[in-house]
Amino acid sequence: MNATAATLQGSVDTRSRIALENLSIFYGDFKAVEDVNLQVRPQSVMAFIGPSGCGKSTVLRSIDRMHEVTPGGRISGRVLLDGEDIYAPNVDPVLVRRMIGMVFQRPNPFPTMSIYENVIAGMKLEKGGRKYKKDFDDLVEASLRGANLWEEVKDRLNRPGAGLSGGQQQRLCIARAIAVQPEVLLMDEPCSALDPISTLAIEELIHELKEKYTIIIVTHNMQQAARVSDETAFFNLPGIGQAGRLIEVGPTSEIFSNPKNRQTEDYISGRFG
Ligand SMILES: Nc1ncnc2c1ncn2[C@@H]1O[C@H](COP(=O)(O)OP(=O)(O)OP(=O)(O)O)[C@@H](O)[C@H]1O
Ligand SMILES: [Mg+2]
Repeated sequence: MNATAATLQGSVDTRSRIALENLSIFYGDFKAVEDVNLQVRPQSVMAFIGPSGCGKSTVLRSIDRMHEVTPGGRISGRVLLDGEDIYAPNVDPVLVRRMIGMVFQRPNPFPTMSIYENVIAGMKLEKGGRKYKKDFDDLVEASLRGANLWEEVKDRLNRPGAGLSGGQQQRLCIARAIAVQPEVLLMDEPCSALDPISTLAIEELIHELKEKYTIIIVTHNMQQAARVSDETAFFNLPGIGQAGRLIEVGPTSEIFSNPKNRQTEDYISGRFG
C-alpha cells in the first residue's frame, strides 16, 4: 500500500493505483450502484461523469470508506489500493482515509480555525500534536504552495479560513487534504460552487497535483472533464429506482470524440434524457 509516487517517477507505469472489482454499493436494501469494474493509473486524472443519481458520489465515498459511515451503507466486491483490498478485515479505515484525501463540492474549511490551523487539522488529529512548531510551519507552507494559495495568504495565516473567497477556501481544503500526504485525491464537483476564474485556478492546480497524486474528479461540466482528465468513466441510470452502472471507461479523448457506447454518445452530445 505504501508504494510511493517517487518510485514511479520517470517510468511509464501501467499498474493501477485504484482498482474497483465487481463493486456494488448499497444503502440498506437499495442497491445504488451495480458491478463496477475500473482501474485508475498512478499519477493520472480520471473524470466521473453521468446524470444526477447515477452513483458518482457513492462510488467516490466507497473508495475512501466514508460510505460505510452512512447507516445501512455497505458494499460487495472489492476496492484495491496498490493491489491491496482496503476492505480487508485487518485494514484500519482511518488509515485508508489518510491515504485517500477527499475534497467536496462546497468548500468546507473549519469556520472557527485560522488558515494555518485548517491546513494542519488532519495532522493534529493523527500525530497528537507531537510535532514541533517548525515542522508544522514547513508543512503549512508546503501544503499551501502545493495548493497554489501560499502567495495569497502568507501574510494572514492566523486569520479565519472562513474569511477567504470561495475559490481560496476550496484551495485551502485542497491544502488540508494534501497536508497528510495522501496517495489519492478524490474530488466531488470541486468547482461547482466557484466562479470561472477560481475554477481555472483549480483546474491548473489539478494539472500540477497529478504529478504527485492519483486523482478522481466528479464533474457535470463536460468541458472540464475534457480539460483536466486523462481518462473518463461514464455512469448511467437504467431507470428510476434502479442501480447506476458504469457504461464506458477509456481515454478522455476517445470517450469524447469516438465513444463506443450509444448511451455515452447521447450523454456527451447533450441528447440525454
Ligand atoms: N444517504 C443515502 N441514503 C439512501 N440513498 C442514497 C443516499 N445517498 C445517495 N443515495 C441514493 O444513491 C443513488 C446515487 O446517489 P449519488 O449521490 O451517488 O449520485 P450522483 O451521481 O453523485 O448524483 P449527483 O450528480 O446529483 O451528485 C441515488 O439514487 C440516491 O438517491
Ligand atoms: Mg454527487
